[in-house]
Amino acid sequence: MSDKGRIVIKLGGGLITKKNKIKTLNKYAINKVCESIKILIEENYKIIIVHGAGSYGHILSKEMRISEGVRQEIYEKQIKAIKQIRENMRELNDEVIDSLERVNIDSMGFPPSIWAKNTGKKFTGDIEIFNKNIGEIIPICYGDVVQRDDEKEFGILSGDDLMYRLSIEIPEVNYTIFLLGDVDGVMDQPPENLDAKLVSLWKKNDFIRTSHNSEIDVTGGMDLKLIRASEIAKKVDNVWFINGNYPERIIQLIRTGSTIGTKINP
Ligand code: IPE
Repeated sequence: MSDKGRIVIKLGGGLITKKNKIKTLNKYAINKVCESIKILIEENYKIIIVHGAGSYGHILSKEMRISEGVRQEIYEKQIKAIKQIRENMRELNDEVIDSLERVNIDSMGFPPSIWAKNTGKKFTGDIEIFNKNIGEIIPICYGDVVQRDDEKEFGILSGDDLMYRLSIEIPEVNYTIFLLGDVDGVMDQPPENLDAKLVSLWKKNDFIRTSHNSEIDVTGGMDLKLIRASEIAKKVDNVWFINGNYPERIIQLIRTGSTIGTKINP
């Protein structure tokens, strides 16, 4: 069977954890997604996995103002918190690796705190380790606390920014997929409104009132995701937001060209 290209897929923190309560895992959702990833591999796609933090990262980051960089008055507490967040993220990453192992997929986590520096889509670090071939180990990375070169000293590198560079710079990416936790894709109103409807095609400048939960989310939530996704769509043909609770929709997408979800245009 011929090589079909590469899929970069993000397991959102809201999918793989319960976002509001510290370190609560949604192992069921992770297992289910990994079963679908197995099918993608069997169909001869190369895969890169990125995952978010959810309650393994956002709650403590918010409390200790990690995304603002050094705050002298709480510096010692911040340093402690960074250690804890990085540990939590490795633990969460191990859960993803474990779920892949259950379906006989060999994967390896590459913690951004080790190889990446600076935040936003211009973060630095060699991403060549993610350029793997069919049959090689599946590389994984995730949103993490990283060092910064400026006076802020540290900050949070979001999985969405990792998605950006991996999708643009690694060759042969033909699908970039963001798996969401509780919605079918981009909604035309905050999803808690009962008459909110799924937007099946979104392009930059389409105005959407997202309910960006700044109480918990320290990296920009849905708004940042949409901006990054539309930038990726300039290069990658199929950029989609899909409900990760129904990962069979990814399979339907690659087999038929469409599914329930939001296709992002540049
Ligand atoms: C955030 O990463 C990382 C930390 C808070 C340490 P993301 O921004 O990719 O996480 P989610 O998907 O929103 O949870």
